[in-house]
Amino acid sequence: MKIFLDTADINDIKELVPTGLINGVTTNPSLILQSDRPFKTVIREICEIVPGPVSAEVTSSGYENMLAEGRELAKIAANVVVKLPLTMDGLKVCRQLAMSNISTNVTLCFSATQALLAAKAGATYVSPFIGRIDDVSVDGLGLIFDIVTIFNQYPSLSTEILAASIRHPLHVVEAAKMGVSAATLPPKIFKQLYEHPLTKSGLAQFDADWGRVIAAQNA
Ligand code: E4P
Repeated sequence: MKIFLDTADINDIKELVPTGLINGVTTNPSLILQSDRPFKTVIREICEIVPGPVSAEVTSSGYENMLAEGRELAKIAANVVVKLPLTMDGLKVCRQLAMSNISTNVTLCFSATQALLAAKAGATYVSPFIGRIDDVSVDGLGLIFDIVTIFNQYPSLSTEILAASIRHPLHVVEAAKMGVSAATLPPKIFKQLYEHPLTKSGLAQFDADWGRVIAAQNA
């Protein structure tokens, strides 16, 4: 499973990319707001740090404006992925950009039919929002299951499922069990993937015992 960071925080990205475990980054207008920095500057900087795909979301509305903005965003760096909302205009722009070999991430996906249309529009990625679906008392992972099942029926579809709006490590585990191509995680959740209390206490015990071994050898 590819792991993307869902953040526009340069410090988090600089801290975690050197792990070699991060395949890309996704941003959205809310994350750009939190970064408190100019949109294109942040995207350019992230693209320089991250060798993989970096999603930058269009903020304009209407087919013509979104298409023009998408083309502009794609010029920032070769690894920019143009993120588009799952609306009719977004799907039309996705199709146009795909025909120009510009990578796209169709976002705000909340149903299997939306995902199917994103794939038909030639999206590179489609982002179903697990956590936000859970928030309205519907099973977000159930949507992932439906999309995986549908896409598996059509092996010629090249669109990758990018599980988004991930709220805890179990979302990652369940999405991985279904074989989703990628998941985008807030940095905090990425860290939760490797932290475990038994690892911590086990290491403390080994360190203490090793200290005794050294002390005995030096006695
Ligand atoms: C995906 O690309 C979105 O940026 C993100 O996963 C949304 O997550 P949220 O529901 O936690 O805001």
